[in-house]
Order: sequence, then structure tokens, then C-alpha cells
Amino acid sequence: MKFPLIFPTLIILSSIFSPQSTAQDPGFRCTNPTSTTCNSLIDYKLPNTTTLSAITTLFQIRNLRSLLAANNLPITTSKDTVYNATQTLKIPFPCLCRNGTGISNHRPIYTVVPDDGLYHIAAEVFSSLVSYPQIQKVNNISDADTILVGQELWIPLPCSCDDVDGEAVMHYGYLVAAGNSVGGIAMEFNTTESTLLDLNGMGSAADLKADTIIDVPLKVCKTSLRNDSMDYPLLVPNNTYIFTANNCVRCECSAANNWILNCEPAGIQKRNGGTCPSMQCAGTSFDLGNTTSDSPCSLSRCAYGGYGNNTIYTELTQESTCPGGSGNNSSPSGNGAKGLRWSFVLAASFIGLLHLLRL
Ligand SMILES: *[C@@H]1O[C@H](CO)[C@@H](O)[C@H](O)[C@H]1NC(C)=O
Ligand SMILES: *[C@@H]1O[C@H](CO)[C@@H](O)[C@H](O)[C@H]1NC(C)=O
Ligand SMILES: *[C@@H]1O[C@H](CO)[C@@H](O)[C@H](O)[C@H]1NC(C)=O
Ligand SMILES: *[C@@H]1O[C@H](CO)[C@@H](O)[C@H](O)[C@H]1NC(C)=O
Ligand SMILES: *[C@@H]1O[C@H](CO)[C@@H](O)[C@H](O)[C@H]1NC(C)=O
Ligand SMILES: *[C@@H]1O[C@H](CO)[C@@H](O)[C@H](O)[C@H]1NC(C)=O
Ligand SMILES: *[C@@H]1O[C@H](CO)[C@@H](O)[C@H](O)[C@H]1NC(C)=O
Ligand SMILES: *[C@@H]1O[C@H](CO)[C@@H](O)[C@H](O)[C@H]1NC(C)=O
Ligand SMILES: *[C@@H]1O[C@H](CO)[C@@H](O)[C@H](O)[C@H]1NC(C)=O
Ligand SMILES: *[C@@H]1O[C@H](CO)[C@@H](O)[C@H](O)[C@H]1NC(C)=O
Repeated sequence: MKFPLIFPTLIILSSIFSPQSTAQDPGFRCTNPTSTTCNSLIDYKLPNTTTLSAITTLFQIRNLRSLLAANNLPITTSKDTVYNATQTLKIPFPCLCRNGTGISNHRPIYTVVPDDGLYHIAAEVFSSLVSYPQIQKVNNISDADTILVGQELWIPLPCSCDDVDGEAVMHYGYLVAAGNSVGGIAMEFNTTESTLLDLNGMGSAADLKADTIIDVPLKVCKTSLRNDSMDYPLLVPNNTYIFTANNCVRCECSAANNWILNCEPAGIQKRNGGTCPSMQCAGTSFDLGNTTSDSPCSLSRCAYGGYGNNTIYTELTQESTCPGGSGNNSSPSGNGAKGLRWSFVLAASFIGLLHLLRL
């Protein structure tokens, strides 16, 4: 039995070399009720020169488009595009709040290959986004030295679904670079130093360490999503876009559009084939994303309300377009603002595909 000798050595080595090895809690603070889910983002510094396709596979990102969208890359970018070691990409992933912390929702799943070790997987394959005791803990592995080739490991990336200062945000796991300061990061993402210190449980700005991941809240666009929508709450930060409703809908967030989420038919192949459901606002001739000016300070929009089994929900909303609120102030906020009318559109086709269509 040589385990007792090797294992302590591993612990000592990893506490020297792994930046997160002291943090036993894998996730960011997430006080939402257990089982709350949302979409999240984390920086991944490439350990190797590799292709976008390989990264999509490693993190089990649903499709290349989602990776491109998270990085605001053109949709025409090839899956074979090479990124170099030490370049950073933003990885989109689903977040799960559990027991006070947020961790990736059973994704990515990594399959052990010959000569793998938990430390190698954590520190090298996943660039220390997690520590090996964290992988060990969520996978209920009692002995870190006994992992088997072919064994599937849940890699618990840190995330959160909590509101910040009463507003929905996307929690972004930002990789701290040498020379970064808390004030500088706060300024770059338009938040405050005290918010960052609080979210990350840091006593002072001097606690910031290069090459660690910190929780940065990104302001997101307001939506009119139903709370029973399969993609609720759809978090889309400034200057990015996302595909949702099985690729039928593309939503974009821009500060220039008053922080109101703009969704349109994606006009691309639906996930798993088939035809996208109707996206017209009931009782109107408006398609999803159509707007019309009602008055100098108000416009109506056929807005995205979420999706269900074979249905895309739409809602006619009114937005004030004049600064200072001289128009109607009934712009959508959070989950279904007052005075807004739900309408839903049932799809006539592809009923047989229903259970294949989960996001
Ligand atoms: C990777 O490095 C090569 C050679 O230095 C360079 O030509 C290429 O543009 C880099 N790739 C990216 C995505 O920056
Ligand atoms: C939740 O936290 C409590 C107290 O920290 C701990 O005893 C329990 O094992 C945790 N449950 C899970 C599922 O992690
Ligand atoms: C990077 O390359 C090294 C050595 O070739 C290998 O051990 C490691 O698994 C690679 N990492 C990834 C993420 O492919
Ligand atoms: C973890 O493993 C131990 C020992 O194999 C077992 O008793 C326990 O029920 C497992 N816990 C979970 C959550 O699977
Ligand atoms: C940053 O946030 C503040 C408060 O939310 C806002 O007033 C300001 O316009 C924002 N700055 C930018 C550049 O968006
Ligand atoms: C969802 O919205 C409905 C109607 O707006 C509300 O009654 C319900 O409590 C909400 N459910 C949750 C879990 O927030
Ligand atoms: C939103 O993105 C634009 C363009 O990148 C940037 O100029 C602006 O400061 C950002 N605003 C916030 C609040 O992040
Ligand atoms: C309404 O939206 C559809 C789908 O995006 C688009 O093809 C059409 O041009 C829009 N019509 C108007 C009047 O904006
Ligand atoms: C969607 O379909 C599943 C199984 O077909 C069903 O259990 C579920 O209640 C449906 N959800 C909605 C919102 O209709
Ligand atoms: C505000 O909305 C109401 C009802 O939707 C409408 O009758 C009124 O004309 C709007 N006012 C302005 C200034 O757009």
C-alpha cells in the first residue's frame, strides 16, 4: 500500500501550486433557494493551443454558437479556429444553487483517461477553475488516488444566481490578471469596489490575488420572461447575445437599447431539426422583435416571453424611449411587469418532437 505515502505528498504539492486549494466550497455564494438555476459565464485560460471545437466538447457547451455568442464572436467563425495557450475565452454554462453556494449544474462532465489524476484534471485540464478536493467532494470520491479510467467526473465551476443590490445580474467568474486592482475591475464592469469585496468575501482590496477567479456581477438586460419558461431567468449581459428556445430565438442586450432585451427569430436551423413555432404576438400582425412607434416617447414591441414544450411565448410591451421618463414608464422589468398582457402562441407542428426539445 503506497497510497498513504503518495497522498500526503499530493496535498502538500497542491497547496503550494493550486491557487484555490484552500477553498473547500467550490461555488460563489448563492443564497437563492436550493435548486435555483440560471445561466452563467467563466473565464478559461487555455492550457494548450486548441480549437473552438475542442473547447466546446471539453465544457459540453450545447453548440459552437453558444460559445461564439458568449465571446461576441461572429457567428460565421469556424469551429476549427485555433486559439493559443494562455489566451482566455468566456465559457457559458448552467449554474445551480445548492446549499448556499452556486456550482455548474452537472456540467461539464469529464471522463477520466489513462494516467489522469485529480490534481492534473483540476489544475491543468481546467486551468485551476476548480481545485481537486472540490472535484473530489462533489463526486463523493473518498480516496483521491482511486479514480478509474472511464469514470465520469462532474467539474463544479463556481457561479451564482443571486440578485445584486436588488437587480438580476449575470455572475461572471473573472480571471484576475497580474496588475489588476479591485477598483480597476469595478470600473471596467461598472460596479463598485464594495460590491466586489462583499460578493467575494474579501476583507480588503489587498486580498485580490492574480490567477484566481472572482465573482463579478454583470448588468443584464430587462426581460419579460414568464417564470415558468424553460430558460428563466434569461440573463444576457451588456453587449452580448444568446440563442435560446432551441435556437429558434436570438436575443441581444445593448445599453444603447435602454437595457431592454431585444429578441428576434434566429433564422437558423432549429436544434434537433424541425420547424420553429410561430412567434407572432397574438391578435396582431407583429412578429417577435417587431416594434412600432406609438408616440414620440413610446414604442410597442413584440417581446420574447420564454418558451415551453412546443410553444414560444410572446408579449406586446410598451417602452418609453425618451430619457427622463417623459413617456410611458411601463417598460418590462424582471418577471412580468404590471399592466402587461401575456399571449401565447401554440405551435401547430412537430408535436412528436416535444420531449426532445429541452434547452
Ligand atoms: C495563435 O498564434 C499564432 C502564431 O503566433 C497566430 O498566428 C494566431 O493568430 C494566434 N491565434 C489567435 C486566435 O490569436
Ligand atoms: C450542506 O451544508 C451542510 C452544512 O454545511 C452540510 O452538512 C451538508 O452536507 C451539505 N449538503 C450538501 C448536499 O452538500
Ligand atoms: C494539454 O497538453 C498536455 C500535454 O500534451 C496534456 O497533458 C493535457 O491534457 C492537455 N490539456 C488539454 C486541456 O487538452
Ligand atoms: C458518498 O459515499 C459514501 C461512501 O461510499 C456513502 O456512504 C454516501 O452515501 C455517499 N454520498 C452520496 C451523496 O452519494
Ligand atoms: C454605470 O452604472 C451607473 C449606475 O447604475 C450608471 O448611472 C452609469 O450610467 C453606468 N455607466 C455606464 C458607462 O454605463
Ligand atoms: C410565477 O409567476 C406567477 C404569476 O405571475 C406567480 O403567481 C408565481 O408565484 C410565480 N412563481 C414563482 C416561483 O416565482
Ligand atoms: C456596455 O458595453 C459598451 C460597449 O462595450 C460599453 O461602452 C459600456 O461601458 C458598457 N456598459 C456597462 C454598464 O457595462
Ligand atoms: C418583423 O419581424 C420579422 C422577423 O424578424 C421581419 O422579417 C420583419 O421585417 C419585421 N417587420 C417590421 C415591420 O419590422
Ligand atoms: C412539457 O411536457 C412534459 C412531458 O411531455 C410535461 O410533463 C410537462 O408538464 C410539459 N410542460 C408544460 C409547461 O406544458
Ligand atoms: C401611455 O400608455 C397608455 C396606455 O397604454 C396610452 O393610452 C398613452 O397614450 C401612453 N402615453 C404616452 C405618452 O405614450
